[in-house]
Amino acid sequence: MNNKIKACIFDLDGVIVDTAKYHFTAWRNLANQLGFDFTEKENEKLKGVSRVESLNLILQWGGLNFSDNIKRQLATDKNEDYLSYIKKMNADEILPGVVPFLDELQKLNIKIALGSASKNAVAILKQVGLMDYFESIIDGTKVVNGKPHPEGFLLAASELGVAPSDCVVFEDAPKGVQAALAAEMFAVGIGNDDDLSAAHLVMPNFEKKNFKGIEEKLLSLTLR
Ligand code: BG6
Ligand code: MG
Repeated sequence: MNNKIKACIFDLDGVIVDTAKYHFTAWRNLANQLGFDFTEKENEKLKGVSRVESLNLILQWGGLNFSDNIKRQLATDKNEDYLSYIKKMNADEILPGVVPFLDELQKLNIKIALGSASKNAVAILKQVGLMDYFESIIDGTKVVNGKPHPEGFLLAASELGVAPSDCVVFEDAPKGVQAALAAEMFAVGIGNDDDLSAAHLVMPNFEKKNFKGIEEKLLSLTLR
């Protein structure tokens, strides 16, 4: 029986930093240049989804199709636009409560990993000064299968040397929650989205949250 959580695996965009708004702006700029627009509701479907898959979905919404060469160029253009916002970020854009939570984990010797679909994860962590907290960083450059596939989270657990059942994943995307469950880990949804209801626990953010309280709630579920 599980009696202790040994590692926390964090998604990046929308969990540690509010970069989802920059992804939205950059994709929207691209769609507008191509002559169409999409809504914030549609944008929800892009959360946790890789760059290439996001582009394919957006082009589908716009009723457009291009050769692989042009699509590569479009994805590069979007990323350059996105990076122009990222380069202006600083520690003020770390989401509320995240730093005290990471500090608590360090004090308790709970291992910390990143499990993100983004290929910009390291650049973002450096930009906001959080790199040193992470013992393992699994990002979009290290996985073949995107969320909801569990590959990224399983790789993080294996790099940390912790069994999946002793890990908890923090995720803002329904596909990320599915990936955590497929990895047979605890899943904590971050946000208010009803779509996160598959998670073991949902909370709006890390403000006023402490690891011990979350661990207690999660472990009590396993006793039911
Ligand atoms: C995820 C985001 O974390 O990373 C997605 O939720 C994004 O919206 C994906 O498409 C890939 O990010 P990047 O930075 O590699 O384009
Ligand atoms: Mg996310």
